[in-house]
Amino acid sequence: MLSKICLLLRQIFVQRPIENMSNRTFTMIKPDAVQNGHIGAILDKICAAGFRIVAMKLTRLSAEKAGEFYAVHKERPFYGELVEFMSSGHIVAAILEKKNAVEDFRTLIGATNPAQAAEGTIRKLYAESIGRNAVHGSDSDENAAIEGDFFFSGLERF
Ligand code: RTP
Ligand code: MG
Repeated sequence: MLSKICLLLRQIFVQRPIENMSNRTFTMIKPDAVQNGHIGAILDKICAAGFRIVAMKLTRLSAEKAGEFYAVHKERPFYGELVEFMSSGHIVAAILEKKNAVEDFRTLIGATNPAQAAEGTIRKLYAESIGRNAVHGSDSDENAAIEGDFFFSGLERF
């Protein structure tokens, strides 16, 4: 219990990185949530859940860059719709740090389809539909590193 309190205080006040890469994940606040004014509320939930922001930027993906980011889904029927949506407006990209970051962040955001997301999760609270589902979260440590590198140089992470 005492060690948990110490870790929490360190994350809040000292802001020193936990060195292991496997403790990092990557997220985007997607165009629907940005357009609907949910950036602040979503960042609040992320911080309240104990994640430290390592890097963050407001930006916009071209269709080409969105296609590249989601290339793993190229053969899926929703790929075209996904690329069009992800390039339709501004996004907030961020690298987040916490012990067990990838898994804990997926729990925090909830199921891909907000209709199936658990109460209190970010997608349950802020997503519109399976296609317009408010946030992205990396699905593995390896992809978290690849996705963070897609958006951020070494000089942009702290
Ligand atoms: P994400 O990568 O964005 O965090 O989402 P995820 O892991 O929960 O879901 P994934 O299977 O990786 O799908 C990527 C995104 O594609 C859209 N999608 N649409 N219409 C559909 O059936 C469908 N299925 C997936 C969602 O926006 C999903 O987040
Ligand atoms: Mg995914």
